[in-house]
Amino acid sequence: MTFIVLGILIAYLIGNISPSYIIGKKYGKIDIREHGSGNAGATNALRILGKKFALIVFLADMGKGILGGLVGYYLGGQDLASITVIAVVFGHVFPVFLGFKGGKGVATSIGAMIVIAPIFTIIATLLGVALIFKFRYVSLGSITGIAILPLLIYSGRGELRVIITALILTCFVIYTHRENISRLLKGKERKIGEKA
Ligand code: G3P
Repeated sequence: MTFIVLGILIAYLIGNISPSYIIGKKYGKIDIREHGSGNAGATNALRILGKKFALIVFLADMGKGILGGLVGYYLGGQDLASITVIAVVFGHVFPVFLGFKGGKGVATSIGAMIVIAPIFTIIATLLGVALIFKFRYVSLGSITGIAILPLLIYSGRGELRVIITALILTCFVIYTHRENISRLLKGKERKIGEKA
């Protein structure tokens, strides 16, 4: 029980570390959450801080997702990893140290899910990236990529706990993208790199 609580807590705290916030403060002297979409993530970093920092933010957000999954794995095996995967994404979206206003959880979900379902996550990510290149909407690729993940795992006869974890993340990421979804439906969503 101690390891379960410890794993969840450590993963949540890892999720709290916000590369886009840190880089925004250090190199742009801004709080990224007060600019662009207000999202503390790579897409908004691209708008506000440029390509180089956006790539760093994406990789760092993904890296902390991997760490969050690995913490669970080493403290309690695959079962705990399935829970810490959710905890690290939750920490990214609702960071206690940043007033519970973080990012939307996509890059962190990719990193975390790579730990428990690597092949399916890579396939879903590639699909999401292809959609981003085709339609130029990061949110559309993000939502579709994450939504397809539980279906991929299910059809590939993945374990139930992994399917459940993917389903929870899908619902969570759809929730964090609720404003993007509304803008997409109205045709008002920003295309990649678009500032206004
Ligand atoms: O992962 C975030 C992306 O899908 C949307 O970001 O800044 O356009 O709301 P943003």
